[in-house]
Amino acid sequence: VRLELSLEQIEKGGFKHFMLKEIMDQPNAMRNALRGRIYQPVDAAPDVWEIKLGGLEKAKERAVDGRSPLERMAHASRLIIAACGTSWHSALIAKCAFEKLAGVPTEVEYASEFRYRKPLICQSDCLIAISQSGETADTLEAIKMAKQYKALTIGIVNVVGSSIARETDAGMYLHAGPEIGVASTKAFTCQVIAVLLMALRLGKQLGTLSEEMLHTYCAALSAVPDSIEEWLKSLTEQTRVISKYFRLATNALFSGVGIHFPVALEGALKLKEISYIHAEGFPAAEIRHGGITLIRNFVPVICIAMRHDPAYEQTKQVVSDFRAKDAAVVVITDQGNRDFDQVAQFVVQCPETKLELQPLISCVPLQLLSYYIADMRGCSIDQPRNLAKSVTVE
Ligand code: G6P
Repeated sequence: VRLELSLEQIEKGGFKHFMLKEIMDQPNAMRNALRGRIYQPVDAAPDVWEIKLGGLEKAKERAVDGRSPLERMAHASRLIIAACGTSWHSALIAKCAFEKLAGVPTEVEYASEFRYRKPLICQSDCLIAISQSGETADTLEAIKMAKQYKALTIGIVNVVGSSIARETDAGMYLHAGPEIGVASTKAFTCQVIAVLLMALRLGKQLGTLSEEMLHTYCAALSAVPDSIEEWLKSLTEQTRVISKYFRLATNALFSGVGIHFPVALEGALKLKEISYIHAEGFPAAEIRHGGITLIRNFVPVICIAMRHDPAYEQTKQVVSDFRAKDAAVVVITDQGNRDFDQVAQFVVQCPETKLELQPLISCVPLQLLSYYIADMRGCSIDQPRNLAKSVTVE
């Protein structure tokens, strides 16, 4: 018997598309992003955790006035995060985490807007560039601009040795492994891991997080890859069923509050990118200011509504409003929550974790929904029309 496999089939490791392989690879990719960065010291008590971000702390040769990049970040007058596409969504999650866990004022910019609008930048600012490829032209230009003003520049990049990695003063690699599918999946979750680690490390540096809180967050973060791995066993089938129901949709809305708003944006982007269905993401209550006109019979509305969300009660009300307008509602919520059993067509229950870590989990069903819907529509999943993996032109 002769077995003929193309190089591409071998690289896909038995999956139909690179995108599916990369979604399923997320637990491993996340473990790689965490490895060596959070750990339990052998000689410490069992619930003690440490965070070490070598690229920011050890870089003695990059120290200015004796301060490491981490110390300069911690005392920056503000953090400015510049990114594009999916990486911009991680930047929005980073803002929530940096402000809540470390108390550092943070602004998020589309790199393409930032570089053309002559923003005010000062030497005490720190520009963080987030990029999977490390080659996005606008993000690279944003860094060069910040450098002209002598601001500290930090890269959060996947591709080792890429232009952004080389151009920034210091940074963190994602270690997500190569991402081939044009629509970003595992790079996104690893970006979220990276920014959460940064937020926790800054929180420790600045004393905004007690040792006890830090240990709780670290323990929860280190448990995320295993709980996603276990969950994926049933989640793939559940999302396939939901996708079948929605495969003919022409419009879809995604909503989320607080740290889940960027996840809603990312869910909408994934669906647009690979299935060509028009999709928009909203903060839950904001949908009342316009998006609601799009809701009618069978328009899918995918709502992330977690019980720990500060605006959970309002979100519940918004979900009931959608249902009253005959939307087809999918609720992504936490384990054991029965609040939506009567109002939603489908309820996806996520494994428990701390609120700030939930985007790592709540984005996974949205990636799978987009994937299965696009596959059922016969779309070119790994290379969607008109889209490039990295936009290196101006
Ligand atoms: C392109 C890709 C997106 C990606 C964006 C930013 O638009 O199709 O998936 O999010 O570029 O790329 P970067 O490599 O900078 O993260």
